[in-house]
Amino acid sequence: MVEVRMRVNGAVRSLEVEPRVSLLDALRDHLGLTGTKKGCNQGACGACTVLVDGERINSCLALAVQYAGREVVTIEGVAADGQAHPLQEAFIRNDGFQCGYCTSGQICSAIGMLAEHRAGVPSAVTEHLAADVELSAAEIRERMSGNLCRCGAYNGIVESIQDVAS
Ligand code: FES
Repeated sequence: MVEVRMRVNGAVRSLEVEPRVSLLDALRDHLGLTGTKKGCNQGACGACTVLVDGERINSCLALAVQYAGREVVTIEGVAADGQAHPLQEAFIRNDGFQCGYCTSGQICSAIGMLAEHRAGVPSAVTEHLAADVELSAAEIRERMSGNLCRCGAYNGIVESIQDVAS
């Protein structure tokens, strides 16, 4: 067992894990943060997306021991002061989900994606890098292509993100 301390949703947490334990399993099984979902468990679906130091990662592909001392935010930590995150509100307004299983990953990924866009990180369809240029639906689809929705709620997901990005 290895002791790992990391900041999770604003609080320092200490866990005893075997070196082989993924960040996803550490969050769900050791810290009880079950909002982060396990889909494929092999980096293909995005259901397990969390933010580490503001960047989105697939937590199923990450070993918890690699993230000692880092700042992790899960879906349980995106709301602030009792208020839902603007993306959570937008997903409700725009029917950005059906069964909801992928939603926590979609929202964490969208938060990271908007930060990337604002920082000028290019995407495969980027024709511009200016942070104040509106994201097109095509660019959102490209930037969110790592997050699958088996219900096919993609139109609502894109509209939700455009709602917040504009
Ligand atoms: Fe991690 Fe699917 S559960 S990408």
